[in-house]
Amino acid sequence: MILAANFKTNHTRKSTRHYLERLSNFLFETSCEHDIFLFPPPLALDFFDDIGGVCVGTQNAYPAPSGAFTGEAGSEQLEELAIQTILIGHSERRGILGESQAFCAEKFRYYASLGYTIFYCIGESLEVRRAGIEATIRHNLSQLEGIDLSYPKLIIAYEPIWAIGTGVSASLEQIQETHAALKAHLSCPLLYGGSVNLSNIAEILALPEVDGALIGSASLKVEDFCQMIQKI
Ligand code: PGA
Repeated sequence: MILAANFKTNHTRKSTRHYLERLSNFLFETSCEHDIFLFPPPLALDFFDDIGGVCVGTQNAYPAPSGAFTGEAGSEQLEELAIQTILIGHSERRGILGESQAFCAEKFRYYASLGYTIFYCIGESLEVRRAGIEATIRHNLSQLEGIDLSYPKLIIAYEPIWAIGTGVSASLEQIQETHAALKAHLSCPLLYGGSVNLSNIAEILALPEVDGALIGSASLKVEDFCQMIQKI
C-alpha cells in the first residue's frame, strides 16, 4: 500500500522535522512494509538525510532547473535537498492557482525527464459528478492528457474535489466504480484521496481497486497518521 500525507500549507520546518522523527521511529518499531510519503509545504522542506523509512516530496515545483520565475522553486533547489518526488495536478493548484492541464503536463514531462516519482492528481467537481459516471470518467481522463501513463514512477491519486477537506469522503460504491473504470486505462498505482480519516481508511483501502491513499487534514497529527498506517 502507498500512504501519503499532504500537509498543504500547514506545519513549519521545525514541526515537520519533529513529525518525521516520530513517524520514522514508528515505522521502524512496527516494521512497516508500506510505502510512506510526506509532502510538507515548500518552506518546510529540508535535507532530511537522517530520516529513515519516509520519502519526502514537494507539493509543487516549476518545470525548469532555475530562472526568472518569482516565487517558484525549480529542480536545482530540490536537488540540493535530495528531493526526488513531486505532487502535480492537485485540484487546489488547478482551481485556486489556475494551473491549466497543459501546465500540469509540462511539469510532468520535465520532472519525469529527471526521473522523479510523480504523484499526479485528478478529480471532478460536484457538478461533473452529478452529471453521472460517464461524465465523471471522461473528465478524469481529460486530466491525464499529455501524461505518459507508462512512466514507471507514476502514481495517480483520484481525489473528487467535493470530497476534499469536507469531512465527507466519496462512498465506497463511488470509489469502487470510479477506480474500476479508471484502472481500465492505467497500469500504475491508483490512490484515493478526499476526507480519508481514521474511521474510514480501513474500508476504503480494503477495496481491491484502491492501491493507497493521499491524506490531507487527517494526516496533520503524527499520532493520527501512525494510527491510520496501523489500520491497513
Ligand atoms: P483531505 O485532503 O484529506 O483533507 O480531504 C486530501 C487532499 O487534498 O490531498
